[in-house]
Amino acid sequence: MFRCGRCSELLEVVYPGFEDRLRNDAANLKQVWQQRRLSSAPEDVSGVWRFRELLPQVEPQHVVTMGEGNTPLVSLQKTARALGLHHLLIKHQGMNPTGSFKDTGISAAITMAKAEGFSCVCCASTGNTSASVAAYAARGGMKSVVLLPSGQVTTGKLAQALEYGAHVLQLQTDFDGCLRLLEQLVQKLPIYLLNSLNPYRLEGQKTVAFELMEQLNWQVPDHVIVPGGNLGNSSALGKGFLELRDLGLIASVPRISVIQAAGANPLVRSMRETGGKDLIPVNPETRATAIRIGSPASWRKAVAVLKNTGGVAEDVSEDEIAAAKADLGAEGIGCEPASAATLAGLKKLVRSGFVKCDETVVLVLTGHMLKDIDYVAQMHGPRLAQPVEANAATVLSALEKIYAKS
Ligand code: F0G
Repeated sequence: MFRCGRCSELLEVVYPGFEDRLRNDAANLKQVWQQRRLSSAPEDVSGVWRFRELLPQVEPQHVVTMGEGNTPLVSLQKTARALGLHHLLIKHQGMNPTGSFKDTGISAAITMAKAEGFSCVCCASTGNTSASVAAYAARGGMKSVVLLPSGQVTTGKLAQALEYGAHVLQLQTDFDGCLRLLEQLVQKLPIYLLNSLNPYRLEGQKTVAFELMEQLNWQVPDHVIVPGGNLGNSSALGKGFLELRDLGLIASVPRISVIQAAGANPLVRSMRETGGKDLIPVNPETRATAIRIGSPASWRKAVAVLKNTGGVAEDVSEDEIAAAKADLGAEGIGCEPASAATLAGLKKLVRSGFVKCDETVVLVLTGHMLKDIDYVAQMHGPRLAQPVEANAATVLSALEKIYAKS
């Protein structure tokens, strides 16, 4: 059961008495978390369970972990200069065990499934959730079933789900259709749903806020920018920052902004046309297949995060996403198209004056570049010259041309 019986809204995890219990201990918590970095116990190595004081309480033997989280924070100097910004960083969640940010949420939710005695888990997915669910189910000794929109999931993500032994059903519908169906089916079968309707997913994903703050030495950035699809991630990130503030671990929260592809922009339209009161579902179309979602489940939570943190929702074109992805690539940072939407959005937000040059900005890159190599091949295909004859004279002449250009 993931929805309120009265109003049908999604549930949220709350911790009664949590602030009173932890507030006096806030400074101590920072130290405890820091010290766990020296431990080799799996629940301390995990970038999720290391923060277990702010998570649902579980027995250590139920924790399903592969050392998720612990992802790099890297500064983007060339891009920052080009945009006139002083401080621009990326938090690369594509460096998680299965190559996307989903692993933090799946570790948390599948641990709850194990603690509750489930032997089978499931999800609908644009690809990354299915890869993560399949892998973590295998680690936890559970079966997994994944519903995918047929023909709309990249080969790399599909390959992961298959490799990790998921039962894969490709349906003739889009992601929204898969999720609607699954929400009904789990009422009838003893299968545990791992989509972000499941509030424990958000508990795992909120830890990126804690880890980021540690990496920034608890100096709050002005802006954090995430891509938006089903809107679980933006909701989780907001929850994480707001909890840190309520506990007194940080004095203020960053503005959290959400970027969608122009062809899959229901949150942006909802904000523009109704001020976030109603969702305006769209028929989604974008080459950033991870965020090809027209009716996001967590839209209300995401609207609340925008309002509570002072962030905005913005959309970007396919060309803007491709250009941003190329900019990141030119700095040695690979990611999938959905992740590059954050930089495309930032460019617009700098132009509009919402982001100012002396502000610190963190872009959350959500998926690894190798998740979508067809996109890369299409982008760079023309740059691949014909094969060159393998003799010194021909290679030398080719190299001389490269030198002459640089
Ligand atoms: N970036 C990537 C790489 C994703 O895979 C997703 C979502 C998002 C961003 C958007 O995150 O849904 O929390 O707003 N992928 C889901 C999936 C839907 O099935 O893998 P969101």
